[in-house]
Amino acid sequence: MNLHESEKIAGMLESEGYEKAESQSEADIIVFNTCCIRENAEDRAEGNIGALKKLKKTNKNLIIAVGGCMTQQNGYAEKLYKEFPFIDIIFGTHNLDGFRSLLSKRIDRNKSVIDVWDKEGDIREDTPKCRSSYPNAWINIVYGCNNFCTYCIVPYVRGRERSRKTEDIVNECKKVISEGYKEITLLGQNVNSYGHDLGTSDFSSLLKEINKIEGKFRLRFMTNHPKDFNEELIKTMSECEKICKSVHLPVQSGSNRILKLMNRHYSREDYFDKVSLLRKYIPDIAITTDIMVGFPGETEEDFLDTMDLVKRIKFAGAFTFIYSKRSGTPAAKMEPQVDPEISKERIMKLISVQDSVNRSYSKSYNGKTIEILCEGYDDKKNKYLGRDVFGRMAYFDCKENLIGQFVNVRISKTGGISLLGEKE
Ligand code: 5AD
Ligand code: SF4
Repeated sequence: MNLHESEKIAGMLESEGYEKAESQSEADIIVFNTCCIRENAEDRAEGNIGALKKLKKTNKNLIIAVGGCMTQQNGYAEKLYKEFPFIDIIFGTHNLDGFRSLLSKRIDRNKSVIDVWDKEGDIREDTPKCRSSYPNAWINIVYGCNNFCTYCIVPYVRGRERSRKTEDIVNECKKVISEGYKEITLLGQNVNSYGHDLGTSDFSSLLKEINKIEGKFRLRFMTNHPKDFNEELIKTMSECEKICKSVHLPVQSGSNRILKLMNRHYSREDYFDKVSLLRKYIPDIAITTDIMVGFPGETEEDFLDTMDLVKRIKFAGAFTFIYSKRSGTPAAKMEPQVDPEISKERIMKLISVQDSVNRSYSKSYNGKTIEILCEGYDDKKNKYLGRDVFGRMAYFDCKENLIGQFVNVRISKTGGISLLGEKE
């Protein structure tokens, strides 16, 4: 999501005649697109902004702008400006599309501009994008979130759900495919609720429309919410040949007590049922997830429930997080907050279990030939890389540049999460 917003900021700057600088010291303008989902992301952003003070002294014309969900938090922009008065522009998530007007205001007045809106702006379809993830194109389908999971800051900084019109999304998909993109990833905090506010469409119908677009390409989407992940969608996934055989379905916890406290609106049994249904329709589907440890009040028993769920589901991959207290969310006031040392121990145990699942899943690839969409070159490994329809990353040697092409790769070595092979 943030990555695609950065593509929009870059697109707006490009439309004003700016070009990508080779380094910070050569730049005329530096824009920070921040995230506040966890405290460490916020700390890192503040550290990076602070480090620019010196550069600002040597380059008097440098413009520093800070936007994104960190600045959208209540009262944060003022606090940030007080701490770093050398910042030229502060904007929020709701007025990102208006960045160009803030920039010209700053240049005309030669004075800092702080403009963070309380309310969501209208959806803008005219924002240029400078895409940087070829052969994948990120496409937003729904903005904001209505779910208010008790640990999460997102609904406060991104506002309520607003769906883009189906026609606009399909046209953007057609455009990127005609430009040569080979993969589309639809984005939303909860893509499953797409269209609820429009009343004319839903997520399954949208997928069917995009699947009709001619040409060979892969279709992915994220993120899903288990409470809204229904049989109609699973059926659609099994019927549409362009939809990848992988799905990201964040479970967060395996304990019913914690899921309730998190306001997730499903139980571990519901989650198991959805996974069974998915595997009934698409037996080899790769399911990935997000899991959190150390949510307030999480006991050893709750954690063991999470471990048990992880062992039983056998996720193809998992992003694991230690709960981070976000001020203004209901969980920030819940007692007792878990001792950080205990959270660290728990996440290590969780990672170790998931690691062994990853290894045995990777092992099943040994000797197989898979179709990879080549998406880049790894300078450290000196190899091309790409993913198969299950989302597994494979590395391979090749003399010619194959980025953007579908390549058959025979897997000869497997490690943790990634695979190594030769082009056939
Ligand atoms: N602390 C830790 N992890 C969080 N996430 C969201 N909010 C928090 C928080 N306060 C995680 C969730 C979500 C992912 C994008 O980030 O697991 O699915
Ligand atoms: Fe946050 Fe929950 Fe919304 Fe995801 S669904 S963005 S975790 S509130």
